[in-house]
Amino acid sequence: MLHLKHVLPKISLVATAVAATILLSGCGDDAAPTGTVTLKTAFNQSENNPQYKALVSFSDKLEAATNGRYKLEIHPNELLGDQRASLELVQSGAIQMAVVANPLVENFNKNFSVLAMPYVYDNPEHQRKVFTSGVLDSLFASTKGTGFEVITAYTAGARSVYTKGAAVTTPADMQGKKIRVMQSDTMIKMLSCMGGTGVPMGQGEVYSAIQQGVLDGAENNEITYADLKQYEVAPYFSATRHVMVADLLVANESFLAKMDEGDRELFRKLAKESTQTQFELWDKALDGARQTAKDNGATFTEVDIKPFQERCKPLQSAMLTTPEQKALYEKIRELAE
Ligand code: GCU
Repeated sequence: MLHLKHVLPKISLVATAVAATILLSGCGDDAAPTGTVTLKTAFNQSENNPQYKALVSFSDKLEAATNGRYKLEIHPNELLGDQRASLELVQSGAIQMAVVANPLVENFNKNFSVLAMPYVYDNPEHQRKVFTSGVLDSLFASTKGTGFEVITAYTAGARSVYTKGAAVTTPADMQGKKIRVMQSDTMIKMLSCMGGTGVPMGQGEVYSAIQQGVLDGAENNEITYADLKQYEVAPYFSATRHVMVADLLVANESFLAKMDEGDRELFRKLAKESTQTQFELWDKALDGARQTAKDNGATFTEVDIKPFQERCKPLQSAMLTTPEQKALYEKIRELAE
């Protein structure tokens, strides 16, 4: 299996080369739908990730339902660049789809930030209801005009902080710690409210940045932590569970517009169904990921999350400024038990 840290030095060159090849070969959104149309899909993690597996299942169902007219060609491990770069490839039509974390889409419409607010979901079941209930449909359509549309959301579990040196159990422990975050202002602010310093970067650089001491740690879910072997460089996993960030499946707008209406409906329906599949796969993978990390020397520490919650309350209120954000927040909370 290709591991991110092994492809690191090559990533930007490879991404540029792959993007150029895609553009030159004319396989972008202008490809005529003769035979099977392959939907190039960028994914930043490995084939073991439940999101990758859900995409494979989506592809199989789409291919069967359209009598072989459409299928996905999934490029894992950041081979098409990090999430920011792959979102740009989707916008331009050089590729058709990508999975990108919600904070990257927030850069296009601030209302998305509600989906990644600290403690907005009570538990995975609440998040599943929100993602499958249709309450997000108009938000998802709102990026039309920028070259892409959000098709569905996948879970990425709850994120916690992990560090080298020692576990983090209080906001005071976070002081002076440089923790990698995703490339968004909200994520940087969240790290500050937790007591540390957020350093934005793409996922592919995290392992070596911790190893080289550029970072003291990172924050992510258990599956990513184990799959990318980040326990090797940051073995102290502290269950802060500070945020459940949605991952979004995005598709190029003009590719969608050019699809035959019947195929487009099937595409949308099956993509939404893949969310349910993905939640089930995620749930099954979680214990195994924890165990793998433990077997390889990671220490998991439970954390009293109240002091972190308290410190993040002002950020929560600051994130709900527009009437749309407030309405969305209410709709999400109404779906809690
Ligand atoms: C999670 C999430 C990814 C994201 C990653 C990150 O794994 O599922 O979409 O890229 O975190 O922190 O970059």
